[in-house]
Amino acid sequence: MTPPPVAGGSYVALIGLGSNQGDRPLFIRKALTALAHSTRCRLVAISPLYQSDPVGNPNDPNPYLNAVCRLETDLSARQTLDRLLDIEKSLGRVRRERWGPRTIDLDLLFVGDKIVEESGLTLPHPLATQRSFVLEPATQIDPEFRDPISDSPLHEIRNSLRTRGDWTPLQRLDFPMPQELTSRQEIRQFIQTSREKGQTVGFVPTMGYLHEGHASLLRQARLENDLVILSIYINPLQFGPEEDFEQYPRDKKKDFELARETGTDAILTLSEEPMYSPEHATYVEVKELTDHLCGASRPGHFRGVTTIVTKLFGLVSPDRAYFGQKDAQQAIILRRMTIDLEMNTKIRILPIVRESDGLALSSRNVYLDEKQRQEALGLHRSLLRAQELVASGERCTETIDSAVRDILNTCDGAQIDYIGLVDSQTLQPVERLERETLLALAVHFGRTRLIDNTLLTPLA
Ligand code: PAJ
Repeated sequence: MTPPPVAGGSYVALIGLGSNQGDRPLFIRKALTALAHSTRCRLVAISPLYQSDPVGNPNDPNPYLNAVCRLETDLSARQTLDRLLDIEKSLGRVRRERWGPRTIDLDLLFVGDKIVEESGLTLPHPLATQRSFVLEPATQIDPEFRDPISDSPLHEIRNSLRTRGDWTPLQRLDFPMPQELTSRQEIRQFIQTSREKGQTVGFVPTMGYLHEGHASLLRQARLENDLVILSIYINPLQFGPEEDFEQYPRDKKKDFELARETGTDAILTLSEEPMYSPEHATYVEVKELTDHLCGASRPGHFRGVTTIVTKLFGLVSPDRAYFGQKDAQQAIILRRMTIDLEMNTKIRILPIVRESDGLALSSRNVYLDEKQRQEALGLHRSLLRAQELVASGERCTETIDSAVRDILNTCDGAQIDYIGLVDSQTLQPVERLERETLLALAVHFGRTRLIDNTLLTPLA
Protein backbone atom coordinates (compact mmCIF):
# COMPACT_ATOMS: atom_id res chain seq x y z
CA MET A 1 0.00 0.00 0.00
CA THR A 2 1.03 3.62 -0.47
CA PRO A 3 2.49 4.84 2.81
CA PRO A 4 -0.17 7.44 3.60
CA PRO A 5 1.12 10.49 5.44
CA VAL A 6 4.52 11.90 4.52
CA ALA A 7 6.54 13.81 7.13
CA GLY A 8 4.52 15.90 9.55
CA GLY A 9 1.17 14.20 8.95
CA SER A 10 0.87 15.45 5.36
CA TYR A 11 -0.60 13.52 2.47
CA VAL A 12 0.56 13.31 -1.10
CA ALA A 13 -2.22 14.49 -3.37
CA LEU A 14 -2.06 14.17 -7.13
CA ILE A 15 -4.07 16.80 -8.95
CA GLY A 16 -5.03 16.86 -12.62
CA LEU A 17 -5.18 20.17 -14.47
CA GLY A 18 -6.89 20.67 -17.82
CA SER A 19 -7.87 23.57 -20.05
CA ASN A 20 -9.33 23.83 -23.56
CA GLN A 21 -10.44 27.45 -23.73
CA GLY A 22 -8.63 30.78 -24.06
CA ASP A 23 -4.95 31.04 -23.21
CA ARG A 24 -4.69 27.41 -22.06
CA PRO A 25 -1.05 27.41 -20.80
CA LEU A 26 -1.75 30.62 -18.89
CA PHE A 27 -4.79 29.13 -17.12
CA ILE A 28 -2.75 26.09 -16.12
CA ARG A 29 0.09 28.26 -14.92
CA LYS A 30 -2.25 30.48 -12.90
CA ALA A 31 -3.83 27.45 -11.25
CA LEU A 32 -0.38 26.08 -10.36
CA THR A 33 0.65 29.45 -8.95
CA ALA A 34 -2.51 29.53 -6.82
CA LEU A 35 -1.73 26.03 -5.52
CA ALA A 36 1.88 26.99 -4.82
CA HIS A 37 0.66 29.92 -2.71
CA SER A 38 -2.06 27.93 -0.95
CA THR A 39 -1.60 27.70 2.81
CA ARG A 40 -0.87 24.27 4.33
CA CYS A 41 0.06 23.01 0.86
CA ARG A 42 3.45 22.43 -0.70
CA LEU A 43 3.62 22.06 -4.45
CA VAL A 44 6.47 19.60 -4.99
CA ALA A 45 6.30 18.48 -8.62
CA ILE A 46 4.70 19.48 -11.90
CA SER A 47 4.51 17.26 -14.97
CA PRO A 48 5.17 18.43 -18.52
CA LEU A 49 2.13 19.66 -20.48
CA TYR A 50 0.27 17.24 -22.76
CA GLN A 51 -2.17 18.00 -25.55
CA SER A 52 -5.01 15.67 -26.51
CA ASP A 53 -8.30 15.81 -28.43
CA PRO A 54 -11.42 16.22 -26.30
CA VAL A 55 -13.26 13.08 -25.27
CA GLY A 56 -17.03 12.80 -24.83
CA ASN A 57 -18.33 15.95 -26.55
CA PRO A 58 -18.45 16.14 -30.37
CA ASN A 59 -19.50 19.83 -30.21
CA ASP A 60 -16.30 20.82 -28.47
CA PRO A 61 -13.48 20.58 -31.00
CA ASN A 62 -10.75 22.41 -29.03
CA PRO A 63 -7.83 20.25 -27.95
CA TYR A 64 -7.08 20.00 -24.24
CA LEU A 65 -3.92 20.86 -22.44
CA ASN A 66 -3.33 18.66 -19.39
CA ALA A 67 -0.81 18.35 -16.59
CA VAL A 68 -0.63 16.69 -13.19
CA CYS A 69 0.96 18.13 -10.08
CA ARG A 70 1.92 16.63 -6.76
CA LEU A 71 0.98 18.43 -3.59
CA GLU A 72 1.91 17.70 0.02
CA THR A 73 -0.80 18.88 2.34
CA ASP A 74 -2.20 18.27 5.79
CA LEU A 75 -5.64 19.42 4.65
CA SER A 76 -8.34 16.76 4.55
CA ALA A 77 -9.39 15.44 1.15
CA ARG A 78 -12.61 17.47 1.37
CA GLN A 79 -10.72 20.66 2.25
CA THR A 80 -8.30 20.05 -0.62
CA LEU A 81 -11.21 19.62 -3.01
CA ASP A 82 -12.75 22.88 -1.75
CA ARG A 83 -9.43 24.62 -2.44
CA LEU A 84 -9.51 23.34 -5.99
CA LEU A 85 -13.06 24.56 -6.50
CA ASP A 86 -12.12 27.99 -5.11
CA ILE A 87 -9.18 28.21 -7.51
CA GLU A 88 -11.36 27.21 -10.45
CA LYS A 89 -13.87 29.88 -9.46
CA SER A 90 -11.20 32.56 -9.05
CA LEU A 91 -10.01 31.77 -12.58
CA GLY A 92 -13.52 32.30 -13.95
CA ARG A 93 -14.61 28.69 -14.39
CA VAL A 94 -18.33 28.12 -14.34
CA ARG A 95 -19.22 24.43 -14.00
CA ARG A 96 -22.11 23.90 -16.40
CA GLU A 97 -22.14 20.68 -18.34
CA ARG A 98 -20.21 17.51 -17.65
CA TRP A 99 -18.25 17.40 -20.86
CA GLY A 100 -18.46 21.12 -21.66
CA PRO A 101 -15.55 23.37 -22.61
CA ARG A 102 -13.35 24.45 -19.71
CA THR A 103 -11.07 27.38 -19.08
CA ILE A 104 -9.64 25.40 -16.19
CA ASP A 105 -10.51 22.06 -14.70
CA LEU A 106 -8.89 20.81 -11.50
CA ASP A 107 -9.42 17.20 -10.47
CA LEU A 108 -8.41 15.64 -7.19
CA LEU A 109 -7.03 12.32 -8.48
CA PHE A 110 -5.50 10.67 -5.41
CA VAL A 111 -4.97 11.59 -1.78
CA GLY A 112 -2.45 9.13 -0.36
CA ASP A 113 -4.12 5.71 -0.15
CA LYS A 114 -7.58 7.09 0.64
CA ILE A 115 -10.61 5.40 -0.87
CA VAL A 116 -13.66 7.66 -0.50
CA GLU A 117 -17.19 7.48 -1.86
CA GLU A 118 -19.17 10.49 -0.63
CA SER A 119 -21.46 13.00 -2.23
CA GLY A 120 -19.30 15.13 -4.54
CA LEU A 121 -16.05 13.37 -3.61
CA THR A 122 -14.83 10.08 -5.04
CA LEU A 123 -11.27 8.94 -4.39
CA PRO A 124 -9.37 7.86 -6.33
CA HIS A 125 -10.96 9.98 -9.07
CA PRO A 126 -12.84 7.57 -11.38
CA LEU A 127 -10.83 8.70 -14.42
CA ALA A 128 -7.44 8.62 -12.71
CA THR A 129 -6.53 5.16 -13.93
CA GLN A 130 -8.45 5.21 -17.20
CA ARG A 131 -7.34 8.23 -19.16
CA SER A 132 -4.05 8.68 -20.95
CA PHE A 133 -4.06 12.45 -20.32
CA VAL A 134 -4.05 11.80 -16.56
CA LEU A 135 -1.96 8.65 -16.35
CA GLU A 136 0.87 9.79 -18.58
CA PRO A 137 1.62 13.08 -16.77
CA ALA A 138 1.04 11.43 -13.36
CA THR A 139 3.49 8.66 -14.25
CA GLN A 140 6.05 11.25 -15.30
CA ILE A 141 6.15 12.80 -11.83
CA ASP A 142 5.33 9.83 -9.59
CA PRO A 143 5.76 6.48 -11.39
CA GLU A 144 5.80 4.47 -8.14
CA PHE A 145 2.63 6.00 -6.69
CA ARG A 146 0.21 3.15 -6.04
CA ASP A 147 -3.43 3.26 -6.99
CA PRO A 148 -5.05 2.19 -3.68
CA ILE A 149 -7.75 0.15 -5.45
CA SER A 150 -5.54 -2.11 -7.57
CA ASP A 151 -2.43 -1.60 -5.39
CA SER A 152 -0.43 -1.23 -8.63
CA PRO A 153 2.08 1.51 -9.33
CA LEU A 154 1.01 4.10 -11.92
CA HIS A 155 3.67 3.09 -14.44
CA GLU A 156 2.28 -0.46 -14.56
CA ILE A 157 -1.29 0.75 -15.01
CA ARG A 158 -0.16 3.07 -17.78
CA ASN A 159 1.76 0.32 -19.54
CA SER A 160 -1.13 -2.12 -19.42
CA LEU A 161 -3.56 0.52 -20.74
CA ARG A 162 -1.16 1.19 -23.59
CA THR A 163 -0.77 -2.51 -24.38
CA ARG A 164 -4.56 -2.93 -24.40
CA GLY A 165 -4.75 -0.08 -26.93
CA ASP A 166 -7.04 1.79 -24.55
CA TRP A 167 -5.06 4.94 -25.08
CA THR A 168 -6.05 8.37 -26.45
CA PRO A 169 -3.08 9.77 -28.38
CA LEU A 170 -1.21 12.51 -26.57
CA GLN A 171 1.35 15.04 -27.63
CA ARG A 172 3.92 16.11 -25.08
CA LEU A 173 4.52 19.87 -25.31
CA ASP A 174 8.04 20.59 -24.28
CA PHE A 175 9.18 24.06 -23.38
CA PRO A 176 11.34 25.68 -26.07
CA MET A 177 15.12 25.80 -25.56
CA PRO A 178 15.96 28.92 -23.51
CA GLN A 179 17.51 31.82 -25.38
CA GLU A 180 21.20 32.31 -24.60
CA LEU A 181 22.15 35.87 -23.70
CA THR A 182 25.82 36.20 -24.58
CA SER A 183 26.41 39.96 -24.47
CA ARG A 184 25.33 42.95 -22.39
CA GLN A 185 23.47 44.26 -25.44
CA GLU A 186 21.41 41.04 -25.71
CA ILE A 187 20.62 41.04 -21.99
CA ARG A 188 19.49 44.69 -21.99
CA GLN A 189 17.31 44.15 -25.06
CA PHE A 190 15.68 41.08 -23.54
CA ILE A 191 14.98 42.85 -20.23
CA GLN A 192 13.72 46.02 -21.93
CA THR A 193 11.21 44.12 -24.06
CA SER A 194 9.84 42.32 -21.02
CA ARG A 195 9.62 45.56 -19.01
CA GLU A 196 7.70 47.25 -21.81
CA LYS A 197 5.16 44.42 -21.61
CA GLY A 198 4.97 44.87 -17.81
CA GLN A 199 6.28 41.35 -17.19
CA THR A 200 7.87 40.30 -13.91
CA VAL A 201 11.33 38.73 -13.92
CA GLY A 202 12.48 35.86 -11.69
CA PHE A 203 16.25 35.28 -11.59
CA VAL A 204 18.31 32.24 -10.54
CA PRO A 205 22.08 32.87 -10.38
CA THR A 206 24.25 29.73 -10.55
CA MET A 207 27.70 28.48 -11.48
CA GLY A 208 26.22 25.76 -13.71
CA TYR A 209 26.57 21.97 -13.64
CA LEU A 210 22.90 22.07 -12.73
CA HIS A 211 21.10 19.49 -10.62
CA GLU A 212 17.66 19.14 -9.04
CA GLY A 213 18.58 21.71 -6.36
CA HIS A 214 19.02 24.37 -9.04
CA ALA A 215 15.97 23.03 -10.88
CA SER A 216 13.82 23.50 -7.75
CA LEU A 217 14.74 27.21 -7.76
CA LEU A 218 13.93 27.52 -11.47
CA ARG A 219 10.58 25.76 -11.05
CA GLN A 220 9.57 28.03 -8.19
CA ALA A 221 10.67 31.06 -10.24
CA ARG A 222 8.55 29.73 -13.13
CA LEU A 223 5.52 29.66 -10.85
CA GLU A 224 5.94 33.17 -9.53
CA ASN A 225 7.07 35.23 -12.53
CA ASP A 226 6.27 35.97 -16.16
CA LEU A 227 9.89 35.47 -17.20
CA VAL A 228 12.59 33.25 -15.74
CA ILE A 229 16.25 34.02 -16.29
CA LEU A 230 19.08 31.74 -15.19
CA SER A 231 22.71 32.81 -15.11
CA ILE A 232 25.62 30.43 -15.44
CA TYR A 233 28.93 31.95 -14.50
CA ILE A 234 31.82 30.44 -12.58
CA ASN A 235 32.91 33.49 -10.67
CA PRO A 236 36.72 33.51 -10.14
CA LEU A 237 36.39 36.23 -7.51
CA GLN A 238 34.77 33.88 -4.99
CA PHE A 239 37.43 31.13 -5.21
CA GLY A 240 40.57 31.17 -3.08
CA PRO A 241 43.98 30.60 -4.74
CA GLU A 242 44.09 26.96 -3.55
CA GLU A 243 40.46 26.22 -4.45
CA ASP A 244 38.83 24.40 -7.37
CA PHE A 245 38.13 27.25 -9.84
CA GLU A 246 40.03 25.53 -12.68
CA GLN A 247 38.43 22.09 -12.09
CA TYR A 248 34.89 23.32 -11.34
CA PRO A 249 32.65 20.95 -13.37
CA ARG A 250 30.99 22.22 -16.55
CA ASP A 251 28.34 20.74 -18.88
CA LYS A 252 26.66 23.42 -20.95
CA LYS A 253 24.51 21.05 -23.00
CA LYS A 254 23.04 19.29 -19.96
CA ASP A 255 22.50 22.64 -18.20
CA PHE A 256 20.51 24.00 -21.13
CA GLU A 257 18.44 20.80 -21.30
CA LEU A 258 17.56 20.88 -17.57
CA ALA A 259 16.77 24.60 -17.77
CA ARG A 260 14.49 23.91 -20.74
CA GLU A 261 12.61 21.25 -18.77
CA THR A 262 11.87 23.77 -16.03
CA GLY A 263 10.51 26.36 -18.47
CA THR A 264 13.39 28.82 -18.18
CA ASP A 265 13.13 31.59 -20.79
CA ALA A 266 16.71 32.80 -21.04
CA ILE A 267 20.20 31.86 -19.86
CA LEU A 268 22.69 34.59 -19.23
CA THR A 269 26.19 33.33 -20.04
CA LEU A 270 27.83 36.54 -21.20
CA SER A 271 30.15 34.22 -23.12
CA GLU A 272 31.13 36.89 -25.66
CA GLU A 273 32.36 39.47 -23.16
CA PRO A 274 34.45 39.45 -20.01
CA MET A 275 32.37 39.74 -16.83
CA TYR A 276 35.04 41.89 -15.16
CA SER A 277 36.76 44.57 -17.24
CA PRO A 278 40.47 45.18 -16.58
CA GLU A 279 39.42 48.51 -14.96
CA HIS A 280 37.02 46.83 -12.52
CA ALA A 281 37.48 48.55 -9.14
CA THR A 282 34.24 48.12 -7.18
CA TYR A 283 33.62 45.43 -4.57
CA VAL A 284 30.67 44.86 -2.30
CA GLU A 285 31.34 43.80 1.26
CA VAL A 286 28.86 42.80 3.93
CA LYS A 287 30.35 43.12 7.41
CA GLU A 288 29.99 40.82 10.45
CA LEU A 289 27.73 38.22 8.83
CA THR A 290 30.75 37.24 6.75
CA ASP A 291 33.05 36.73 9.77
CA HIS A 292 31.66 33.32 10.73
CA LEU A 293 31.36 29.80 9.31
CA CYS A 294 32.43 29.74 5.63
CA GLY A 295 33.50 33.38 5.88
CA ALA A 296 36.16 32.39 8.43
CA SER A 297 37.40 29.37 6.44
CA ARG A 298 37.28 31.01 3.00
CA PRO A 299 38.57 34.59 3.34
CA GLY A 300 37.29 36.83 0.53
CA HIS A 301 34.75 34.26 -0.65
CA PHE A 302 31.62 36.23 0.26
CA ARG A 303 33.11 39.47 -1.08
CA GLY A 304 33.30 37.63 -4.41
CA VAL A 305 29.71 36.40 -4.07
CA THR A 306 28.20 39.77 -3.11
CA THR A 307 30.13 41.55 -5.87
CA ILE A 308 29.04 39.16 -8.64
CA VAL A 309 25.42 39.03 -7.44
CA THR A 310 25.30 42.85 -7.41
CA LYS A 311 26.65 42.92 -10.98
CA LEU A 312 24.15 40.29 -12.10
CA PHE A 313 21.27 42.16 -10.43
CA GLY A 314 22.50 45.28 -12.28
CA LEU A 315 22.26 43.42 -15.58
CA VAL A 316 18.92 41.69 -14.96
CA SER A 317 17.03 43.97 -12.48
CA PRO A 318 14.99 41.00 -11.26
CA ASP A 319 11.78 41.34 -9.26
CA ARG A 320 12.65 38.14 -7.38
CA ALA A 321 15.90 36.20 -7.05
CA TYR A 322 16.02 32.59 -5.86
CA PHE A 323 18.68 31.03 -3.61
CA GLY A 324 19.02 27.71 -1.81
CA GLN A 325 19.03 27.13 1.94
CA LYS A 326 21.89 24.73 1.09
CA ASP A 327 24.16 27.81 1.20
CA ALA A 328 22.43 29.24 4.26
CA GLN A 329 25.07 31.85 5.06
CA GLN A 330 25.20 33.06 1.46
CA ALA A 331 21.42 33.51 1.42
CA ILE A 332 21.42 35.48 4.68
CA ILE A 333 24.26 37.72 3.49
CA LEU A 334 22.57 38.40 0.16
CA ARG A 335 19.28 39.27 1.84
CA ARG A 336 21.14 41.73 4.12
CA MET A 337 22.89 43.23 1.09
CA THR A 338 19.68 43.85 -0.86
CA ILE A 339 18.12 45.55 2.16
CA ASP A 340 21.18 47.67 2.98
CA LEU A 341 21.71 48.76 -0.63
CA GLU A 342 18.00 49.49 -1.26
CA MET A 343 17.86 46.96 -4.08
CA ASN A 344 14.42 46.30 -5.56
CA THR A 345 14.83 42.55 -5.66
CA LYS A 346 13.03 40.22 -3.27
CA ILE A 347 15.23 37.37 -2.08
CA ARG A 348 13.49 33.99 -1.98
CA ILE A 349 15.21 31.15 -0.08
CA LEU A 350 14.12 27.59 -0.88
CA PRO A 351 14.69 24.28 0.98
CA ILE A 352 17.66 21.97 0.49
CA VAL A 353 17.10 19.27 -2.13
CA ARG A 354 18.65 15.91 -1.18
CA GLU A 355 19.32 12.56 -2.78
CA SER A 356 16.99 9.85 -1.51
CA ASP A 357 19.72 8.71 0.92
CA GLY A 358 20.02 12.21 2.41
CA LEU A 359 23.12 13.60 0.69
CA ALA A 360 22.50 17.25 -0.17
CA LEU A 361 22.78 17.80 -3.92
CA SER A 362 25.84 19.77 -4.93
CA SER A 363 27.75 20.30 -8.17
CA ARG A 364 30.85 19.29 -6.18
CA ASN A 365 29.48 15.81 -5.35
CA VAL A 366 31.01 14.59 -8.65
CA TYR A 367 34.44 14.96 -7.05
CA LEU A 368 33.62 12.22 -4.50
CA ASP A 369 34.63 8.63 -5.17
CA GLU A 370 32.22 5.86 -4.20
CA LYS A 371 33.68 5.35 -0.74
CA GLN A 372 33.75 9.07 0.05
CA ARG A 373 30.17 9.45 -1.17
CA GLN A 374 29.09 6.73 1.26
CA GLU A 375 31.01 8.27 4.15
CA ALA A 376 29.57 11.71 3.29
CA LEU A 377 26.13 10.49 4.37
CA GLY A 378 27.40 11.14 7.91
CA LEU A 379 26.71 14.86 7.41
CA HIS A 380 22.98 14.35 7.06
CA ARG A 381 22.99 11.67 9.76
CA SER A 382 24.59 14.07 12.21
CA LEU A 383 22.03 16.79 11.38
CA LEU A 384 19.20 14.35 12.02
CA ARG A 385 20.78 13.37 15.33
CA ALA A 386 20.93 17.03 16.36
CA GLN A 387 17.25 17.43 15.48
CA GLU A 388 16.43 14.38 17.59
CA LEU A 389 18.33 15.79 20.55
CA VAL A 390 16.53 19.12 20.29
CA ALA A 391 13.17 17.35 19.98
CA SER A 392 13.93 15.44 23.18
CA GLY A 393 14.59 18.70 25.03
CA GLU A 394 18.34 19.26 24.69
CA ARG A 395 19.17 22.98 24.67
CA CYS A 396 22.93 23.06 25.33
CA THR A 397 24.76 23.69 22.05
CA GLU A 398 27.99 22.21 23.41
CA THR A 399 26.22 18.86 23.90
CA ILE A 400 24.71 19.04 20.41
CA ASP A 401 28.07 20.01 18.95
CA SER A 402 29.79 17.02 20.52
CA ALA A 403 27.05 14.59 19.37
CA VAL A 404 27.46 15.90 15.81
CA ARG A 405 31.25 15.73 16.08
CA ASP A 406 31.09 12.11 17.31
CA ILE A 407 29.12 11.07 14.25
CA LEU A 408 31.36 12.97 11.82
CA ASN A 409 34.42 11.42 13.48
CA THR A 410 33.13 7.95 12.62
CA CYS A 411 33.13 8.87 8.89
CA ASP A 412 36.28 7.51 7.34
CA GLY A 413 38.35 10.26 5.69
CA ALA A 414 36.21 13.13 7.04
CA GLN A 415 38.07 16.22 8.19
CA ILE A 416 35.84 18.66 9.99
CA ASP A 417 36.34 22.26 8.88
CA TYR A 418 33.67 23.62 11.23
CA ILE A 419 30.51 22.76 13.14
CA GLY A 420 28.60 25.97 13.77
CA LEU A 421 25.61 26.50 16.04
CA VAL A 422 24.65 30.09 15.37
CA ASP A 423 21.67 32.41 15.53
CA SER A 424 19.79 31.90 12.26
CA GLN A 425 19.50 35.66 11.66
CA THR A 426 22.71 37.20 13.03
CA LEU A 427 24.97 34.12 12.65
CA GLN A 428 26.41 34.85 16.11
CA PRO A 429 27.42 31.72 18.05
CA VAL A 430 24.74 30.49 20.45
CA GLU A 431 25.28 28.77 23.80
CA ARG A 432 21.74 27.76 24.63
CA LEU A 433 19.01 27.06 22.13
CA GLU A 434 16.31 29.63 22.77
CA ARG A 435 15.42 30.72 19.24
CA GLU A 436 15.74 29.23 15.80
CA THR A 437 19.37 28.16 15.49
CA LEU A 438 21.33 27.25 12.39
CA LEU A 439 23.46 24.16 12.67
CA ALA A 440 25.92 24.41 9.78
CA LEU A 441 28.68 21.97 8.83
CA ALA A 442 31.67 22.06 6.52
CA VAL A 443 33.62 18.83 6.10
CA HIS A 444 36.49 17.89 3.82
CA PHE A 445 36.73 14.50 2.12
CA GLY A 446 40.13 14.58 0.50
CA ARG A 447 40.20 17.74 -1.63
CA THR A 448 36.40 18.03 -1.68
CA ARG A 449 34.73 20.36 0.76
CA LEU A 450 31.05 19.67 1.49
CA ILE A 451 28.62 21.88 3.36
CA ASP A 452 25.22 21.08 4.82
CA ASN A 453 22.92 22.54 7.47
CA THR A 454 19.62 22.39 9.27
CA LEU A 455 17.52 24.78 11.32
CA LEU A 456 16.96 23.72 14.91
CA THR A 457 13.80 25.05 16.48
CA PRO A 458 13.31 24.58 20.21
CA LEU A 459 9.62 24.14 20.84
CA ALA A 460 8.37 25.42 24.18
P1 PAJ B 1 25.81 27.41 -7.11
O1 PAJ B 1 26.66 26.65 -6.17
O2 PAJ B 1 25.74 26.97 -8.54
O3 PAJ B 1 24.37 27.46 -6.53
C1 PAJ B 1 23.35 28.21 -7.14
C2 PAJ B 1 22.13 28.21 -6.23
O4 PAJ B 1 21.63 26.88 -6.10
C3 PAJ B 1 22.46 28.70 -4.82
O5 PAJ B 1 21.45 29.59 -4.37
C4 PAJ B 1 22.49 27.43 -4.01
O6 PAJ B 1 22.17 27.62 -2.64
C5 PAJ B 1 21.41 26.62 -4.72
N1 PAJ B 1 21.59 25.18 -4.43
C6 PAJ B 1 22.71 24.42 -4.58
N2 PAJ B 1 22.51 23.16 -4.13
C7 PAJ B 1 21.24 23.12 -3.68
C8 PAJ B 1 20.42 22.09 -3.09
N3 PAJ B 1 20.88 20.87 -2.87
N4 PAJ B 1 19.16 22.41 -2.76
C9 PAJ B 1 18.67 23.66 -2.97
N5 PAJ B 1 19.38 24.66 -3.52
C10 PAJ B 1 20.64 24.40 -3.87
O7 PAJ B 1 25.81 29.54 -5.03
C11 PAJ B 1 26.37 29.78 -6.08
O8 PAJ B 1 26.31 28.94 -7.16
C12 PAJ B 1 27.21 31.04 -6.30
O9 PAJ B 1 27.78 31.42 -5.08
C13 PAJ B 1 26.37 32.23 -6.89
C14 PAJ B 1 25.25 32.66 -5.96
C15 PAJ B 1 25.81 31.84 -8.26
C16 PAJ B 1 27.31 33.44 -7.10
O10 PAJ B 1 28.36 33.13 -7.94
